Amino acid sequence: MNTRVASVDDAPDVAGGTTRRAAAAAGVLFGAAVAPECFVDDAYCAAVAEHFSMIEPENALKWAAVRPSRDVFDFAPGDAVVRAARANGQRVRGHVLAWHAYNPGWLRRGRFEPSELCHMLQHHVETVAGHYAGDIFAWDVVNEVFADGASGRMRASMWYDRPGIGFAGQGTRYVEQLFRWARAAAPDALLFYNDDPSRSGSTATAMLGMVADFLHRGVPVDGVGLQLHLDLATDLPQLEDELGQFGALGVELHVTELDVAIPTDAARQPVNAHDLERQADIYRAVVAACLRLPQCTAIQTWGVDDGHSWIPTFSHDAFGAALLLDASYRRKPAYRAVADALEAAAALRGAPGPTQ
Ligand code: XIL
Repeated sequence: MNTRVASVDDAPDVAGGTTRRAAAAAGVLFGAAVAPECFVDDAYCAAVAEHFSMIEPENALKWAAVRPSRDVFDFAPGDAVVRAARANGQRVRGHVLAWHAYNPGWLRRGRFEPSELCHMLQHHVETVAGHYAGDIFAWDVVNEVFADGASGRMRASMWYDRPGIGFAGQGTRYVEQLFRWARAAAPDALLFYNDDPSRSGSTATAMLGMVADFLHRGVPVDGVGLQLHLDLATDLPQLEDELGQFGALGVELHVTELDVAIPTDAARQPVNAHDLERQADIYRAVVAACLRLPQCTAIQTWGVDDGHSWIPTFSHDAFGAALLLDASYRRKPAYRAVADALEAAAALRGAPGPTQ
């Protein structure tokens, strides 16, 4: 247990090993979503290299970024992530070939027919997954296909039914099609379905049902990406129970977007220093629960540090400070908690790391 009293104003806590080393000893990857436009910042780059063995472009491979217009693929930012990973000896995850959000205006307002949209999506998967074949070892093929709320239904979206690619009203059929295209385009990449079971119990149920059905019918899915955007109200026993159900699917599990949001003030600082300890406890419990599952092979935080996190913007500055490093790249109590959980798993799993 970390018993020191937490404050982000404390001197940097550099005692103990890094998450990167501890993850290697546990035989898992420890990653961060990164923004290649931040690579001009030496401190950012140093933090990326020191703490993580895997990186994933946070936005650079989403449609709105990679498809500035119909005929143009802009791979420069994604390629910069691949180059950084090579220099740092890291693996690269890909995110994401199809999502309802972050699509460019020309696509959203294009009034395309389903058949045209179908061709464009197939071409996109072939071109993007093909471009990164051999560099990206695992892809989030598709993201968040189930509706928000408790219905567990398919989400209305341009790929599903507005107008969709020709499978409107046919449930997960369009998702299946995406996996088949992705397998053909990048036969050596692991293919993941990425979503957040912590959104609601019905999201978790729908995810489990779809992946079990795909496995049963031979649809090429290799893993589930568990986003895990959490906060201090997270129901840990329920989450641990759900993680066990995902483990029982038998496919690989990657925690893809872990963060634990806490209330912050106008200066984006935690309102209550005690929350940093509660945040650390949640991080520790989640990492430990994942690592108890042999299927869990990678854990990733959604961003490098609190200065580069989507939570403040997304929550209109009500929440923030959700990551392991503060905005000055100092290790927070949650960092030590995660490193401890990784070290404990290393002792249990006893496996040498697949990468450094
Ligand atoms: C978020 C990014 O962090 C933001 O910068 C962007 O403006 C919107 O998307 N689930 C996902 C991620 O799968 O792609 C989202 O990332 C966060 C929620």
